Amino acid sequence: MENSLQWFPGHMRKAQRLIQENLKLVDLVIELLDARIPLSSQNPMLREIIQDKPRLIVLGKADLAANVDAWLKKFRDENFSAVAVDAAHGTGIKNLIAQAKSLTESKTHKLSKHGAKPRAARVMIVGIPNVGKSSLINRLAGMNHVKIENRPGVTRAKQWIKIADGLDLLDTPGILYPKFDDADVALKLSWTYAISDEIHDLEPTVCKLLETLAEKFPAGLVERYKISLTTDGHELLNQIGLKRGCLRKGGLLDTEKVLRLVLSEFRAGKLGKVTLDDLL
Ligand code: G4P
Repeated sequence: MENSLQWFPGHMRKAQRLIQENLKLVDLVIELLDARIPLSSQNPMLREIIQDKPRLIVLGKADLAANVDAWLKKFRDENFSAVAVDAAHGTGIKNLIAQAKSLTESKTHKLSKHGAKPRAARVMIVGIPNVGKSSLINRLAGMNHVKIENRPGVTRAKQWIKIADGLDLLDTPGILYPKFDDADVALKLSWTYAISDEIHDLEPTVCKLLETLAEKFPAGLVERYKISLTTDGHELLNQIGLKRGCLRKGGLLDTEKVLRLVLSEFRAGKLGKVTLDDLL
């Protein structure tokens, strides 16, 4: 996982430059989004960065998300190719590869028609911190035994992994920065851990998460903690703390402990599958 603390302008520019450099080498960009926040995990500049390079939208962490099919439909209705994967369990990987092959076929076909030596199509993965890029690369690499080779003639040796016949993946993903200057987006990025817990105040963040879950996905919350539903985040936090025995000496609530508990259980999907962006 990349540490979100590094996201100051110099790093953003460097990350963007690296992507632009690698873009020249690939035929397809795989944009990995978090299926729980398919809009908030986008980079607003991506279209500008990749220009007319073919793009495949991949909704990752689909095992943690609700409404995945509706989001896929939305992207497809907007003329994007889109698939869902769960890199933790390996679901959707074959479909991703099939889509990537079909999106690159015309390019490799064109090359061979013009007499160029046939070569594998090349793809790279881009996405915001912690969205699951390395996990996906590992999954794809595991599909077909890894063949790593160095391609000479570029300033830094690029490592390519053969993920299918005629399809090579760049082994280093491009890191995109999310739109964290928007407060609502930043909250969702904190809940899903694209923004590190060290850089924001946990209590309001978690209370807002509990309020959102109580409003949109109450069943998972009630089932997990056996609490009575309310729309007040602090009240929910208190109830959960009591139920789970997050107490300090003297019976006071151990706030830090209950905050961390809720966040880690939410992120592990123990509060149920969610979708936190609105389908427009
Ligand atoms: P990154 O390269 O984009 O920064 O993300 P990375 O692959 O490191 O994944 C970040 C976290 O998300 C990891 O958890 C990883 O296991 C988890 N993850 C990735 N893809 C999926 C998925 O499809 N479903 C689920 N449920 N989780 C996924 P971690 O807690 O940081 O590490 P670890 O506990 O796996 O070691």
